[in-house]
Amino acid sequence: GAAPVSASTLPHPFWIAHRGMASVCPENTLEAYRATVAVGVDVVEPDCWLTRDGGLVCMHDDTVDRTTDGSGRTHDLTLAGAGVLRVDAGEWFAEAWPNTLRVPTFPEVLEELGVRAVLCPEAKNTGGGSAIIEHLTRYGVLDTVIVQSFMRAELDPVIAAGTDAMMLTATEHYDPDSLRKSGIRYLALSAALPPSLVAPGVAAGLNVVVWVVDRRVDAAPWLAAGVAGLFSNDPLYVSGRSPVL
Ligand code: G3P
Ligand code: CA
Repeated sequence: GAAPVSASTLPHPFWIAHRGMASVCPENTLEAYRATVAVGVDVVEPDCWLTRDGGLVCMHDDTVDRTTDGSGRTHDLTLAGAGVLRVDAGEWFAEAWPNTLRVPTFPEVLEELGVRAVLCPEAKNTGGGSAIIEHLTRYGVLDTVIVQSFMRAELDPVIAAGTDAMMLTATEHYDPDSLRKSGIRYLALSAALPPSLVAPGVAAGLNVVVWVVDRRVDAAPWLAAGVAGLFSNDPLYVSGRSPVL
């Protein structure tokens, strides 16, 4: 088969399909991730929640209410419970997408896309970092994935495994030097922060990326500031690779 893709061979800048191109696909579904790969976006982002029984499911919110036909807290799910949830693709997507999509598990995503895509899974809750690493180990893709979290401790098992780690921050209260010295290679800044924060991160040796930019006018100052990558809900359009999507 084709050679595995690798985070180290990403283009500059690279584009990350936020939740699997959430503006144009039902977010965090296997179908969305598949479409992201099919249209050639560089990196696919699944948000990952550790379930009560140790499963890892792809969903963003801390409740299942917004994106599925169920209700309740995401971390209270079991794998069996998550398996019967149906993603509400919503009227906007109804004509183009089946409305019976499932909540995928992270192993299902790895099974199909693990060697075909650079994945950037986010550990959303405590224990997610080590669970992600367990699955990456099982599928042999520790070297081709970037694991992200807002929780610094979730990145420790990622660093220990030699997998690329991305620290997410929505505040200016971090020390780029200590992040880099601890083995973290990527820093993701909220787009609500000033682009002037890119330079100190780069000076510390970090690959600095920004989340989330959905308009070209919003991407421009970050590109000018020298980001390595950008999260977008509509990466084909915002990157200029497609005039319309
Ligand atoms: O992971 C980058 C970005 O996705 C963080 O924000 O809330 O969309 O997961 P959120
Ligand atoms: Ca995320």
